[in-house]
Amino acid sequence: MRKLSILFSIAAILYGCSSNNNTKEERVGLAAKNGMVVSAHPLASEVGLATLKKGGNSFDAAIATMYSLAVVLPKAGNIGGGGFMIYRTASGETGTLDFREMAPSGSKRDMYLDESKEVIENKSLSGHLAAGVPGSVAGMDAIHKKFGSLPFKDLVQPSIDLAINGFELTKYDADIINRFQEDFIKHNIDTPFLFREKEFEAGEKIKFKDLGETLKRIRDNGRDGFYKGVTADLIVKEMERGGGIISKNDLENYKAVWREPLTGSYRGHKIISMPPPSSGGIALLQLLKGSEKFDFKNYGHNSANSIHIMTELMRRVFADRATHLGDMDYYDAPINELLDSSYIANRIADIKLDKATPSEEIKEGKVDKIESFETTHFSIVDKEGNAVAITTTLNSFFGCKVMVKGAGFFLNNEMDDFSIKPGEPNQFGLVGGEANAIEPGKRMLSSMTPTIIEKDNQLYMVLGTPGGSTIITNVYQTIVNVIDYKMSMTQAVDTQKIHAQWLPDEIILEREFPEKTIQELRTLGHKINTIEQIGRMQAILHFPNTEYPYLGAADITRTGNSKASGY
Ligand code: GLY
Repeated sequence: MRKLSILFSIAAILYGCSSNNNTKEERVGLAAKNGMVVSAHPLASEVGLATLKKGGNSFDAAIATMYSLAVVLPKAGNIGGGGFMIYRTASGETGTLDFREMAPSGSKRDMYLDESKEVIENKSLSGHLAAGVPGSVAGMDAIHKKFGSLPFKDLVQPSIDLAINGFELTKYDADIINRFQEDFIKHNIDTPFLFREKEFEAGEKIKFKDLGETLKRIRDNGRDGFYKGVTADLIVKEMERGGGIISKNDLENYKAVWREPLTGSYRGHKIISMPPPSSGGIALLQLLKGSEKFDFKNYGHNSANSIHIMTELMRRVFADRATHLGDMDYYDAPINELLDSSYIANRIADIKLDKATPSEEIKEGKVDKIESFETTHFSIVDKEGNAVAITTTLNSFFGCKVMVKGAGFFLNNEMDDFSIKPGEPNQFGLVGGEANAIEPGKRMLSSMTPTIIEKDNQLYMVLGTPGGSTIITNVYQTIVNVIDYKMSMTQAVDTQKIHAQWLPDEIILEREFPEKTIQELRTLGHKINTIEQIGRMQAILHFPNTEYPYLGAADITRTGNSKASGY
């Protein structure tokens, strides 16, 4: 009994959550009766939870969580970026919202190349020209118009309170802000307030006054508080100061788009994910469809055999991504063909259990490590059974590092997600071609993969993660972990992940893997690289007709401040 209560207290500490009548802590995650928010910051999860408790639905909570993340997680939470939402309502209706950034009207295919058509280092990554037209505020506005049940003002207000009254930095928050001080100086004409000589410290209170004022304009005027008037003027002035090209018309014309989700099945489960301009849904469905041919359970979790097969699948899928995928409003991506069963059967027919596929035909990747894993994800469920999965991003940490003067928020550097030159890898080592070339108004291809899964026609899982190209492979492995390896949600999130993406031609292993596994993979012909951390998964599993139907797994084993809050 005592052992149990010690275990119980340890779990409570680990998850940073207290128990009450409606929740109970277990080693396997946070169980809740009525609703849950799992996000990358405790303050944002708490704002989302308070919204649910006030009677808001998952969509209301998503809007409140999103705006709060824009304050407490400035490296990735945003109003200066974009993202995707997957939803499933309590009645089983599913859909997606695309609020991905768009290329400004003044963009040109070769805008990041010099006269000899070579890539100008960092031009698509840092500074004003790297920013796409932000979509997050239009996204939240569209969600509220379609699904909101509480007044919009009430959903934005908590973020204003956090920005104006301030909040305490965690050690992780402080370290990240300190790490990017040089960039803040370099890419801002006037020093942003987030720069200072003395390092930021854990426990220190920070206020975002200008951001608070911007949020007030959004609270009072909805999308017009961002895309028109004072905020739009400040963005355009910032562009003029730093040679950027986002215009007033670009801002006014920005549109979030409701799109049909991509659906498929995996071992009897229905997978609902994001269509282009995300590559995530197609790649995930291709991976899962290909996986059905292999007996992962028998191979053993993270055994050399399972890693080898997953890698072979990932390589083929990322090769398709590079060649065929882009914004379908501009490019006719062959998604039906890519998801066709016989196409996939053919594609994987040459996978050998005892040998890595020779890659003579694959030219050498020029990037030998993945540098940035920013972006953020949150998963939400409410007492009616509405589920929302949102992944949103500035692309790199603090986006292009430019903070809009007087408006207090960072702009994205999403333009780097276009194929800025055919065959040239972006910051994630991803290559592309015509399908993802820059065009005015086009949305850059993304890897964000917010996903919802149904089992027996009922909600089963809500998940997503940051991590650039590793988003797709992390979501894939988390699903396989639960469905094939019968892991709990928390185990599936916590366990080490791997990643491969065609180019560079290697497997990335998260943290230490047993030497024996590494040797076996080398014997099969794989090159191995390791990395400290893959993603930051935020997931919820649903057990209908049980006392605690929601089981949330915030990714607390990896760096960050992830938290599941439920009631
Ligand atoms: N910026 C990362 C992604 O959208 O995939």
